[in-house]
Amino acid sequence: MRVIIKENSDNVSKWAADYVAYKINHFKPTKGRPFVLGVPTGSSPLGMYAELIKLYKAGKLSFENVVTFNMDEYIGLDSSHPQSYHYFMQENFFKYINIKPQNIHILNGMTKDFAKECSDYERAMRNVGGVHLFIGGVGVDGHIAFNEPFSSLESRTRVKTLTESTIKANSRFFDNDLSKVPTMALTVGVGTIMDAEEVMIIATGKNKATALKHGIEGALSHVWTISALQKHRHGIIVCDRDAASELSKETVEYFMDIEKNNY
Ligand code: GLP
Repeated sequence: MRVIIKENSDNVSKWAADYVAYKINHFKPTKGRPFVLGVPTGSSPLGMYAELIKLYKAGKLSFENVVTFNMDEYIGLDSSHPQSYHYFMQENFFKYINIKPQNIHILNGMTKDFAKECSDYERAMRNVGGVHLFIGGVGVDGHIAFNEPFSSLESRTRVKTLTESTIKANSRFFDNDLSKVPTMALTVGVGTIMDAEEVMIIATGKNKATALKHGIEGALSHVWTISALQKHRHGIIVCDRDAASELSKETVEYFMDIEKNNY
């Protein structure tokens, strides 16, 4: 696993965006051979999206042949709901770039047939040849996408019930009213994310420090689903000093040293 520790969240966003741009540009995607990107919502990736938009506007990056798969979506919110992940992606990213609408995939939280929606989503990923780079955030309890504690580390796209901790954390987007937060979501599984060629998790702020400690220094465990990254061949965590603040001094020194000359 690579752990990239940056001074602050702006530097994390910049590094993450530059890395995504490098991967896409290096791949030289075409219509018949698109670059497949897994994308998250939440506050963690916002700065990265802003940087990617800048790179696009500067002519340094094109999304013409990029296909995206979002990680998750609340059940019961339609795409016009301001807190739906459909809406989030349009407003914070897609409407500013040249991605083709048909290349965007987001789970439909309004479907009547959850099982079909989830298996169709997995099939769509397979049909396009799998995900090249899956980007994610991490919850305070260590969840990736909506794979709450005790999710199977082999899980696939499915319905998940949200924990009280996640409902509380996400209530800040719903007028701090717990009763407005959906209690269920559709989410890609830990196994779905781990199938990607590369996985990059973005973590900023002190409230993510415990999750990173367990994910990086703890045992592989379904309690902290982020720890699944330990078994991935190309796992990256890019974080700021605050999110790294519960790591041991030795761990921080090791990664600062080994990454000092890396991209
Ligand atoms: C939600 C999302 C996750 C996200 C997490 C952290 O639960 N389903 O994908 O990583 O929140 O969000 P934030 O980045 O806002 O802290």
